[in-house]
Amino acid sequence: MCATLEKYVINGGNVLDGEVSISGAKNAAVAIIPAVILCDEPCRIENIPNISDVSLIGRILQEMGAEVKRIDKSTLYINPTKINSCSATSDLVRGMRASYYLLGALLGRCHQAKVCLPGGCNFGARPIDLHLKGFAALGARHELVNGAIIDVKSDGKLQGNHIYLDFASVGATINIMLAAVKAEGQTVIENAAKEPHIVDLANFLNSMGAQIRGAGTDTIKIRGVDFLHGVTYSIIPDQIEAGTYMCAAAATRGRVLVNNVTPKHLESITAKLREIGCEIKEFDEAVLVDATVRPLNRCNIKTMPHPGFPTDCQPQFATLLCTVDGTSIINESVWDNRYQYVSELTLMGAHISVEGRLAIIEGGSKLTAAPVKATDLRAGAAMVIAGLCADGVTEISSIQYIERGYENIIEKLNALGADIKKVYYDHTTDSSLRA
Ligand code: EPZ
Repeated sequence: MCATLEKYVINGGNVLDGEVSISGAKNAAVAIIPAVILCDEPCRIENIPNISDVSLIGRILQEMGAEVKRIDKSTLYINPTKINSCSATSDLVRGMRASYYLLGALLGRCHQAKVCLPGGCNFGARPIDLHLKGFAALGARHELVNGAIIDVKSDGKLQGNHIYLDFASVGATINIMLAAVKAEGQTVIENAAKEPHIVDLANFLNSMGAQIRGAGTDTIKIRGVDFLHGVTYSIIPDQIEAGTYMCAAAATRGRVLVNNVTPKHLESITAKLREIGCEIKEFDEAVLVDATVRPLNRCNIKTMPHPGFPTDCQPQFATLLCTVDGTSIINESVWDNRYQYVSELTLMGAHISVEGRLAIIEGGSKLTAAPVKATDLRAGAAMVIAGLCADGVTEISSIQYIERGYENIIEKLNALGADIKKVYYDHTTDSSLRA
């Protein structure tokens, strides 16, 4: 009995050149789809990326009774009026981090929710205390059942309140926003996260008739409403997917036009690429990354909540810095353990030492092919970039992490001149079955 698994096989050394089109934002989609639970009519969501996290959240809504249909490769029809449950406790729910948005959406819809503790990428503690603090401020008390299920409920409608977040948490900002949309009165979220997907969610909710002001700033004000009408809404382009291809272009010393982006969302990434010597030209909905003009040099990076350098591009940029001469220092200020990919890069000849939240990269050594694995979504993307740069044939296993967040990555990279394919292999004998 063979256990068929998948891996990427990359024949490295090709310079990326040409154009790539960015898909809809994963982290906007996995918030907007649960938000439809709050709506009183069916919705159409466009520019949805065809990735496993989106399929998973759609299946979870179906388990709750919603009608979810993929109209075409990037459009979902969701009818939430048939939802007949306030619980999401199946194994599907444990498969992703964003399932915790069901808490806020169900609280807003039926003043109670039972949801499994979320899964998602493992890079240190991923508490949800700020989410629960926000729910409590709105009048919902919670308990942890059997160490696995969050049971949160309020006596009737939630009551608007003034909430100060200790940290500009993306998830907590989104979850409190979802719970407050139909609460009594006004809710103010101070020290709110400002990521592009927060603004996208607020725009989506407002298009349905919500009253949310200040998304994208430190202070978000939400005045509760009773009814949300159906809409057709198109999701923003994926800031992190775009940043990943920008890093890949620079790492291979190529020249790539990244289409279907919002350049303003990429400003911190663009600034860092310019700092190391890339030429970046910005258009209305595209950026051109040209790493052929001059040798690239080192830099330091500190990840920060938006508009700072995004933590979700940290592994990818670290891989790029392995290919440039000099010592670069990365300070990962958002997560307490987001360097699990370093041990994999080291197998490929990288010289990186990790001390707490700091990674010290001694760049300039040529990466060499090796069998490596994706330790999480963005770490997997970093392994792909390393494989593109390395001499020889790199094999990447555990690619399910990568396919959670990157639509058509094989086709997009090969169209840029890469040589990458997905191979199925027998895990028990590790013999490749077929491409
Ligand atoms: C979202 O995670 C993203 N995930 C992550 O992207 C991203 O890394 C992160 O925001 C930061 O931008 C999704 O959107 C699905 P946080 P989230 O709440 O909401 C602490 C990817 O690659 N914290 O902003 O979980 C937490 O421990 C994924 O697409 C608390 O202490 O991130 C961390 O140190 C990986 N208590 C920091 O805040 C809380 O209640 C940032 O967390 C919540 C968070």
